[in-house]
Amino acid sequence: MTLLQYIGHSAFYIKNDDGGVLIDPFISGNPKAVFDINNNKITDIFVTHAHSDHLGDAIPLSKALKAPISAIFELANYCASKGAYSKGINMGGKIKYPWGSAKFLPAFHSSATPEGTYAGMPASILFEIGGIKIYHAGDTCLNSEMKTIGEVYKPDIALLPIGSTFTMDIDDAVIAAQWLGVKQVIPMHYNTFELINTDASIFKNKTEKLGIKCMLLSPGEGINI
Ligand code: NI
Ligand code: MN
Repeated sequence: MTLLQYIGHSAFYIKNDDGGVLIDPFISGNPKAVFDINNNKITDIFVTHAHSDHLGDAIPLSKALKAPISAIFELANYCASKGAYSKGINMGGKIKYPWGSAKFLPAFHSSATPEGTYAGMPASILFEIGGIKIYHAGDTCLNSEMKTIGEVYKPDIALLPIGSTFTMDIDDAVIAAQWLGVKQVIPMHYNTFELINTDASIFKNKTEKLGIKCMLLSPGEGINI
């Protein structure tokens, strides 16, 4: 049994018997985030890119829990320089973990540390856990790499940003869902603050017309996958 839980913004928690994974843990800085750090097993932390709404609590949590941060090489080194545990990876790399695997893939965005230094390329991440492939798109615009990812890796579930301004909007995310060939989508990166406010029910209507199941999760809400 695998639990996939939405924390808020682009933060998710995935858990099975062999581990607990935090992705883009923007929690203490996001008043809308819902997650109990103290009562959930956390064995690994993933960060798609260095922006503060994704790096979030990753560094202090890594230190407190002795859980490594898996991130693009330069960002992983930055986290290590702040005292965190880290695993550096780069595009196309796949790391195995007790709970499954993660492969780092492109995202079209930017990435600099809070100090403004280079943090490597922003990433999307394909998780495989219990035979299910979950694609976290990170922050990105619509891009044709998604066609390749759909063709070659065949993800089952996509976590897609829909809030526009800094990422894809709803219409582009609908195309992304089609290109990725997924059966199920969960929107993210919207309604956290005013610049990314949007109506996710429009996304749900558009994807479900195409036969793609859309789950609108409230922060704290989880599903068994
Ligand atoms: Ni960003
Ligand atoms: Mn962001």
